[in-house]
Amino acid sequence: MTGPSSTSPAHVAVIMDGNGRWAQMRGRPRLVGHHAGARRVKEIVRACPDLGVKYLTIFAFSTENWKRTQAEVAGLMSLFKRYIRREAQALFEEGVRVRFIGDRVRLEPALVDQMDSLELMTAENDRVHLTIALNYGGRDEVARATRRLAQDVAAGRLRPGEVTDQTLPRYLDTYFLPDPDLVIRTSGEARISNFLLWQSAYSEYEFVDTLWPDFTAQEFARVLGRFGQRERRFGAIPA
Ligand code: FPP
Repeated sequence: MTGPSSTSPAHVAVIMDGNGRWAQMRGRPRLVGHHAGARRVKEIVRACPDLGVKYLTIFAFSTENWKRTQAEVAGLMSLFKRYIRREAQALFEEGVRVRFIGDRVRLEPALVDQMDSLELMTAENDRVHLTIALNYGGRDEVARATRRLAQDVAAGRLRPGEVTDQTLPRYLDTYFLPDPDLVIRTSGEARISNFLLWQSAYSEYEFVDTLWPDFTAQEFARVLGRFGQRERRFGAIPA
């Protein structure tokens, strides 16, 4: 595996797509694909330190995913609880700080308790920052942030003239994160699907055909290598 380079992206965000198709291609229920996807999550998180990735943000469940069958939604929620239960200790020992973004209001209290505990348990870690987007939608996040900002204006804590593109991000779920340098989406779809809309304004994108359960640490390293060859201009003229 390649080591970290000065051009490694510090923050990589991943849309983990293709679990359902991976399972269907094998004649198995979609949930089998999600379980295989969860195993890849472990592998990719472990690969981050060697690859120079300090922040990894993964899209686990969107605000739109509630439209799936009740059985799939319930299966995914059970999978998230199982992942936290089984992985908490290893994540802690490996120096991973875990945080969740998204609206917790609609999630079942038992899951929210586990999320809170894992955040607390890993709060002092700093080797890798893993952020899991759960019941997350970019538009929903901006709407919730705007609501809190409006409350601060109404209460006189913030003047309307103080609202700039520097102010709003402090109200987003991701207030503690740098913007993603690179967003990867697996499974051949070239869409953002409501992921990190504000934060990815200047991110590079990599769309790969591989289905998420087949996305190995080796392929992750190759994608990061391609990122290193890109020239990022942030709207400026090349030097
Ligand atoms: C998209 O594939 C994937 C999801 C909606 C769920 C992502 C969840 C995991 C990878 C499970 C593990 C996560 C954690 C945090 C342990 P899809 O079902 O839309 O696939 P399809 O497009 O082929 O139907």
